[in-house]
Amino acid sequence: MEKAEGRNRTPIAEFILLGFGNGPELQALLFLLFLAIYLVTVIGNLLIVALVVADRHLHIPMYYLLGNLSSLETCYTSAILPRLLASLLSGDRTISFKGCIMQLYFFGVMSATECLLLTSMSYDRYLAICQPLRYAALMNGRVCGQLVAGSWLSSCLGCAIVHIFLFQLTFCDSKEIDHFFCDFSPVINLSCDDTRILQLVTFVISAIGTLVPCLLTLASYVCIITTILRIPSSSGRKKAFSTCSSHLIVVTIFYGTLTTIYVVPTTNSPNLLNKLFSVFYTVLVPMINPVIYSLRNKEVNESLRKAFLKLAAFTHRHRI
Ligand SMILES: *[C@@H]1O[C@H](CO)[C@@H](O)[C@H](O)[C@H]1NC(C)=O
Repeated sequence: MEKAEGRNRTPIAEFILLGFGNGPELQALLFLLFLAIYLVTVIGNLLIVALVVADRHLHIPMYYLLGNLSSLETCYTSAILPRLLASLLSGDRTISFKGCIMQLYFFGVMSATECLLLTSMSYDRYLAICQPLRYAALMNGRVCGQLVAGSWLSSCLGCAIVHIFLFQLTFCDSKEIDHFFCDFSPVINLSCDDTRILQLVTFVISAIGTLVPCLLTLASYVCIITTILRIPSSSGRKKAFSTCSSHLIVVTIFYGTLTTIYVVPTTNSPNLLNKLFSVFYTVLVPMINPVIYSLRNKEVNESLRKAFLKLAAFTHRHRI
């Protein structure tokens, strides 16, 4: 509380997100770059959702979860990029206090849900490869729906607890955030209250929320890989591995980025480095996932090819 003394305590109504530097050419270049990334991400992910919904061959839990992950990723980038694009285009860097807190909440909920959905996907692969005889009994549309709903609900709940504390903070004096979206620590650092309890609560919730899914995923993959290695024929090994390789790559990228963020000390490193890391996990990771699945997964690949052939036949017929 001493921290607040002698400061102006009028609550502020808006923040300024400094973004990336000043030059107008740089802003135009970044606008084009992020616009291209945003379009590729949204189109790629919606394409996967469309394939999963339309193609009967993909109506199994593994692809239901993939469809849900892709819809989530569309929302995830949409919580960050459109505002950034608007501000790069107009030069207006302000964001209202409510807007900032909302962005923080959605971003938190969606990162947590992504983590849980990836864990559900590895549980599905674990059952399919390590418990093939019980797979049909343990995993079906209903269980899959429960996993999806559970992921969303627990993420919303965890973030709501953090936000109860967050709403009690007062922000005064400085309102410049040296970042391109309202991320947790840059916002918290602006508060003139004592934030130690909030930081502790957040640390405990996010440590449990990432460590438990990470260990479950790791355990699933240890089982999966030992089971695959015990398959006698090499074609059988390849076939079993091909059903989980795309997911393994996506999971590795996800936790790889997460670990880099935790391990690389961010408090003393230049802000540019922080921002580049954030660009990687908020903007590039959601773009990479559909690419990996459409290139590496045989069934998605096949379904995509059929959809294109149908489209080509359709346009051809209508031209004649
Ligand atoms: C998400 O999961 C539910 C439950 O299994 C499923 O019914 C739905 O089709 C999935 N959504 C997408 C877009 O795949």
